[in-house]
Amino acid sequence: MTNDIPEKQLSRRDFLSFTAKLGAASLVATAVSPVVGLVNVAQAAPASKVTPFNFAIISDAHLYDIPNHKFDAILAKAVDDVNNMQPAPDFVVFLGDLGQTGARAELEKGKRILSKLKMPLRIIPGEHDWYLDMGAAWRNMFGSPHWSFDHKGVHFAAMNSILVKDFWTVKDIHPEQRMGYMEELECTICGLWGVREEQLDWLEKDVKKLGANAPVVVFTHSPLWDYYPRWNFQTEDAPQIRSILSKFDKVMSFHGHVHQVLYNRIGNLTSLGALSTSWPWPYPPVQLPFPEDRMNRVDPANFLDGLGTHVVDLNAEFGGDLKYKPWADLLPPAIKNGIKL
Ligand SMILES: [Fe+2]
Ligand SMILES: [Fe+2]
Repeated sequence: MTNDIPEKQLSRRDFLSFTAKLGAASLVATAVSPVVGLVNVAQAAPASKVTPFNFAIISDAHLYDIPNHKFDAILAKAVDDVNNMQPAPDFVVFLGDLGQTGARAELEKGKRILSKLKMPLRIIPGEHDWYLDMGAAWRNMFGSPHWSFDHKGVHFAAMNSILVKDFWTVKDIHPEQRMGYMEELECTICGLWGVREEQLDWLEKDVKKLGANAPVVVFTHSPLWDYYPRWNFQTEDAPQIRSILSKFDKVMSFHGHVHQVLYNRIGNLTSLGALSTSWPWPYPPVQLPFPEDRMNRVDPANFLDGLGTHVVDLNAEFGGDLKYKPWADLLPPAIKNGIKL
């Protein structure tokens, strides 16, 4: 990937800094700046120079195979916003639920809109992309649902977190019904989601070479903590994932699926939920670890209410600031003034 952002000197504390913007209902994460010494993150090379960079996140488009559907326009606007970001992101990550019912035509439409991005795209699936044909069309279009790469000293890894145990064969449920069950926010027969054994093994091998001080960013569709399992706002084997990642000083996790501003920290893992380009989900009736992070929704009947822009600045320790800019300028002070991560 290319980067024409000029190098600049930053302090050691600032060696890794992220600015994340969720443009027009999309999360646009702008990652800045690993130190040259961290290019080989397992080495203890002296760190002196920083090359800032940006990356963007867009999530949960939920496109229908209906011409000129309103969600098409919002995704296209998010793509435009990302293309117009200054400085430009080096790459974009889409965090799942590109389609609504998993139909090939929905995914093809999404791919067409996302192809307007001027920078490389990385993508993972959501449950809406997968359960009509068990990911056949998605894999055919986008390849492996888990992947990793290093970029300017930061290690990025992504997994497919929406895998459930087979609930359909014994009940003789056909593919459309299976997809229908998985589309439900509260499916009573689907069971919990997870990344499962094969991807856990993959992750363990993937991060084996990295030293404890390596900056690691993880992408999944569902959150890597038990937010609200009843709506599958969780990943069943997140404890195993957190255990594999526990050797690192700090890990940053971005996820989709919840369609809302969401922040949590467990041990060394900081998690941020991405807004969607479709609709905002309500907050479940649970006490959040950080209740002041809830978005203010004045008109839940308005599908645009609750969409907006995230701006996240993270420093080397994955602390920083999160600011949320909704389309409706009606914010509780805690959000309006920013949140310390
Ligand atoms: Fe979604
Ligand atoms: Fe989802």
